[in-house]
Order: sequence, then C-alpha cells, then structure tokens
Amino acid sequence: MKSNIKRILIVLIAVFSIVLISLIYLAIPKNQKKPEVQDGKLILGFSQIGSESAWRTRNTQSIFEAAEQNGIQILFDDAQQKQENQLKAIRSFIVYQVDVIAFVPIVSGGWDNVLQEAKDAGIPVIVVDRQIDCDQTLYAGFLGENGLEEGYAAANFLVKKCQNRLSDINIVEFSGTENSSVATERAEGFRSLIRNYPKFKIIYSQDGDFLRSRGKEMMDQIISQNGGLKINGKSIDVIYSHNDSMTLGLLDSLENNKISPRSTIIISIDAEQKCIDALTQGKLNCVVECNPNLGPTLMELVKKIAAGQQIPRVTYMVEKVFTEYDDFSTYEPRGY
Ligand code: AHR
Repeated sequence: MKSNIKRILIVLIAVFSIVLISLIYLAIPKNQKKPEVQDGKLILGFSQIGSESAWRTRNTQSIFEAAEQNGIQILFDDAQQKQENQLKAIRSFIVYQVDVIAFVPIVSGGWDNVLQEAKDAGIPVIVVDRQIDCDQTLYAGFLGENGLEEGYAAANFLVKKCQNRLSDINIVEFSGTENSSVATERAEGFRSLIRNYPKFKIIYSQDGDFLRSRGKEMMDQIISQNGGLKINGKSIDVIYSHNDSMTLGLLDSLENNKISPRSTIIISIDAEQKCIDALTQGKLNCVVECNPNLGPTLMELVKKIAAGQQIPRVTYMVEKVFTEYDDFSTYEPRGY
C-alpha cells in the first residue's frame, strides 16, 4: 500500500515538473537564449517593439551603447510589432529574474496582469518611449517624449504660419499606430490648439502605423481617388504626419505623381536626418523633434532603481522644433 502511494507521488512529481518546464519554455520567446550572466553586472530585460523606422533603430542603438558604457547587461527582445510577443518577453525576463525590466509599449492598454506579475516577483519596471494606461503602482516610472507637446508644437507652427489667412485651411492627418499613446497624444496635442481657430478643418485622418510604406500607400490612394491633392473636391492645404517614416513615404508618392511638395504645407515629427534634409530643400515646412537617445538617462534610472532608490514618475526628453525659417547652417548632423 505504502509503495503504491510512493509510486503515485513520484508520478505526480514527474508530471508536475514536466508541466512546469513546459510553461517556462512557452513563456520564453523562441529567439531568446538564456543569458550568460556576466559577473556582478546588473541585468536589464529590454523589450523593444521592432524596427519600423530609422528613429526606432537609433532608439535601440542608444540603449545598447549606454548599457555598454555603464556596464549593464541587456537581455533583449524584439517584439516584431506584436504586443503578445512583448508579454512573452516580459514574462521571460521575470523567469530569468533580471534586476530591472524596461519596455516600449506598442499600445497603451493590456499591461496590468504582466506588470502585476513583475511586481509580485519584486522586479521594478520602467516604461520607455510610449505611455501606458494602467495602475501607476505597477511600474516605477516613465521615460520618453511628451507626445502632447509634440502635437502642440506642430499646431503652433501651423497657427503662426497661417495667421494672415482667413479662408478655411484643410488638414489631412497621417496618424501613428492605433491605440499607441504617442499617436493619441500627437493627435490630441495638435487639436488642443487648432480647435481655437475654426478656420482649421481636419478633413481626413488615417492610421499609417508609423511606416514609410503606409505613408506612400495612403498618399497614392488619396491622389488616385481624388485626381490630385484633394479630398472630395477640397484642396489639401496641410499634411500633418505623426512621424518621419510616413512623411518620407508620402514624399515618395508626391514625387511619383509629379506633384510638388511645395503645393501644400507639410509638418512631420521625429527629425531624422532625411527629413531635416527635406526641410532644407523646401520639401517640408516644419519637423518637430522626437528624441530617440533615451539610453544614457535610462541607464541612470536603472542604476537608481537597482540601488533601491525611487525614480521620478515621469522623465521627459528635451526636444526642439525645426522650421523652414531656421538658419540651416547651424544644424548639427542628427545621427539617425
Ligand atoms: O514612439 C515613437 C515613435 O515611434 C516615433 O515617432 C516613430 O518614428 C516610431 O516608430
């Protein structure tokens, strides 16, 4: 009798172990290897959303460079633009018991459960670049841009440029990834100012997912469906694009369709070198900077948290606005 119970117990333990190992295996993204822990180094688990733009590539580089300079080991995951991959990556960081987790949330919702798991495991989390909608006690702080300010700065340029115009000003908006905080904020910040001037009308707004290919596709579609730079017979006076990749795409489309970019006002966000060049060539009117160089500040925050100190709830990057009225000779190379 006793030996039967023993046998059952052994079988149960074996089954339990197999289930546990499988669960851990499933939680780990397939492209991620178990880290070889380097002696005494802090380990930062970092989930990036992908490489949809030159901005994003620079953002990732900045974080790797700063980690190297600060002797911090990164356990990296590229989510290929999928939130489910980010959730898996964060769970794997918890399994590996990294010291700190940082992630760029592709969209703002859906993080509560995984962040609760990180909190229960005693691993502090820093939200990077984009904001999240969730219980604030579940993460240590946010580091990134102020999307509301960026949208406001874009509108501020437009309001000043068009101050003497009395007729309606028709605006087309190419917006960033749906449900991402940055797209919501850039839309809201822009509207918060132009809504005070009834002459500004947003006649069309479409999500282009921050991609160059989508910027070109959307512009091509508008031109082919409306026979030129118009929407339902109304001229397009302004194109407000939430990022430089989409802007470069729409410029490609204008060029292919032999339409001069000077026939409309174009405002973009990011300040990649290619768009700064386009600004100096008269193809764009204003480029609001979104600073991708988050690495050095992120590493400072990581070291503070790992030392048990508090970090600010929000740390915003300093950002400039480049316009057609600038002295271009003062521009420094952008580095992305
Ligand atoms: O979240 C920042 C935005 O994401 C940048 O403006 C854009 O280029 C990137 O893809």
